[in-house]
Amino acid sequence: MSAVPAPAAGHVIRRMTETDLTAVLDTEQAGYEFPWTTGVFRDCLRVGYACWVLEHERRAVGHLIMSVVAGEGHVLNLCVHPRYQGQGFGAALLEHGLRMAGRLGADMVFLEVRPSNVPALRLYEHWGFSELGVRKSYYPAPGGAREDALILARNLPL
Ligand SMILES: CC(C)(COP(=O)(O)OP(=O)(O)OC[C@H]1O[C@@H](n2cnc3c(N)ncnc32)[C@H](O)[C@@H]1OP(=O)(O)O)[C@@H](O)C(=O)NCCC(=O)NCCS
Repeated sequence: MSAVPAPAAGHVIRRMTETDLTAVLDTEQAGYEFPWTTGVFRDCLRVGYACWVLEHERRAVGHLIMSVVAGEGHVLNLCVHPRYQGQGFGAALLEHGLRMAGRLGADMVFLEVRPSNVPALRLYEHWGFSELGVRKSYYPAPGGAREDALILARNLPL
């Protein structure tokens, strides 16, 4: 791993609940061109995925969803509201998720990312992820097109 981003000040990371979903959807819709729906977040809570929010000044401004099964962690969603990006919150959520996944017995963590998503690629690179392969035409893209996904992975513990 190269330099680790400085920890963000003034935040709390806690478990997501149903009452967070309005704020989570606000962040999700501002952060992604193809956002998840409320129903997808509800399903994640219902099936017991690791669902976290990052609170800053008492407002949920970022979220992380992971599954940890059979020694493998999967980052399913990591998003920081655009107004709060670039302050270390994405790194704080990712570090939290990696530590929690390690505590739950994961020794590898996987994720998919768009090759065009430079901020996310920088973040994952800093946290020791490397490329395993490509899923062709994995993501929706503007105009009905599709974009490949890079599959990244790293070992645990941190
Ligand atoms: C990816 C994301 C979670 C990063 O959150 P963040 O809070 O801005 O990240 P941090 O402030 O912790 O910064 C992490 C790294 O990303 C880099 N970064 C942040 N914004 C960037 C930008 N606009 N361009 C390039 N790099 C950027 C930072 O420079 C930092 O790297 P550094 O240590 O080399 O400086 C955020 O951009 C986001 O929510 N994007 C929309 C949703 C998304 O694409 N999620 C990832 C799906 S795989």
